[in-house]
Parts: sequence; C-alpha cells; structure tokens
Amino acid sequence: MRLDKYLTQAGVGTRSEVKEYIRKGCVCVDGIVEKHADRKVDEAASEVTFQGTRVRFQKFVYYMLNKPAGFVSATQDSHDKTVVWLLRAEGRTDLFPVGRLDKDTEGLLLLTNDGDMAHRLLSPRRHVPKQYFVRLAEDLSEETVRRLEAGVDIGEKKPTLPSVFEWKNRQAHEAYLTITEGKFHQVKRMFAAVGNKVLFLRRVRMGNLVLDEGLPPGEYRPLYEDEIKGLLDVTE
Ligand code: URA
Repeated sequence: MRLDKYLTQAGVGTRSEVKEYIRKGCVCVDGIVEKHADRKVDEAASEVTFQGTRVRFQKFVYYMLNKPAGFVSATQDSHDKTVVWLLRAEGRTDLFPVGRLDKDTEGLLLLTNDGDMAHRLLSPRRHVPKQYFVRLAEDLSEETVRRLEAGVDIGEKKPTLPSVFEWKNRQAHEAYLTITEGKFHQVKRMFAAVGNKVLFLRRVRMGNLVLDEGLPPGEYRPLYEDEIKGLLDVTE
C-alpha cells in the first residue's frame, strides 16, 4: 500500500495533510526518513513512524462528518452529491454512512468501513440514542411535550418509543429531542403528529459520539481513539 494511503487509514490526517507531513520529513519507514508519498509499505511488516511515534495501521476507519444540507446519505446517487463524495480526498472506496439523515438535515454522520459496527449501531433492538437539535415553526405546550415524550402515532404499527425533549431557547422555538429509534423522517413526523413543523434539523449526538462543534458543515475528521472505544462500548 502507498505510504500516504497507509497514514491516512491510520488516522494521521487527511490525504493532503499526510502528503505535506511526508514532504516535510516527518515520516520514517523502517527508521529512515521517507519523502515519497507513493513509497510502498507493507501493512504487516513495515515500521512507520510519524514525528517519532509508531503509527498503528487500522483495518477499520471511522470519520465524523458534519453533514451539510443538500447531500444524500448514500454511497451513490444519480441526481445528487452524496456524503461519501465529501470524503473523496481520502481516496477510499469502502466508506459508507452509518444510517441516513434526510437531504435537508445537517449534523453528525459517522462514515466507516466497519460493517459490523454499523449493523450494531443501527439495530432496532439496541435503542442507541440519537439527539437532534430542532427549530420549530411554533411553541409547544407542556401538555404537548408530555405527549411527544410518551410516544405519538406517526402512522406506524406502534406509537414512537419514549423520547426526551428539552428546550434550548423557547422564544426561538429551539429544542433538543432524543430518540432511540430511526424510523424514516422520524423527528419531522413526530412534531407533525403534534401539529408542529420542523424548520431546521441537525443531529448532534449518536450513542456516546457528540458532533464536534469545531467542524463546520461539510467538514469531517477521523474519530479519536476514545470516541471509537465509546461507540464499541455502546454496541457491545
Ligand atoms: N428524523 C428526521 O425527520 N430526519 C432526519 O434526517 C433524521 C431524523
């Protein structure tokens, strides 16, 4: 595998960042500074260091994306750009989004090549909590909040599972809703079921993983070790 690909997959940085690190002489292969990004390394045998620290090759990679509106949560689409396209600089073909956000929804989306973890995070039996920031068309009464939290009829076989609602700024009709399911358009349908309308939606948390406030929409970064561990703990 090429050295720049190896370093990207190991989470050292984006493809362009690691190329720059290599150019600057921050990377050694088997104890010798390597300045060629296309140098071939052996994932199992080569000893690669970045600024003197051994780089561990990762089979699985995990990225946090702040999904912007206007992109579809898919690997391919004939009409629209996809969230995978936003990570094209990684030069990977095996990434996919864990679950879906609507085209007009922003926020936390995990992209990985770890199918097992994705499966576990999305399993309806695990009830992994997902927290959304919402801006609503109208205020909600205390009574309506109680109904929403207890579970509402959104046209599925059963009412929605209990959820947690919390105002962020009531005057601005801004709030957080945490749900443990992932039905199609669920948050929008829940508010519609109580006579309101979602004007803006952003996912801010999934399990233990919190959207990094330093990531503007359209930007992404590899997960930190403790974030990966947190996700694995949730799905064990
Ligand atoms: N609920 C919705 O209505 N849309 C999303 O994108 C996610 C949750």
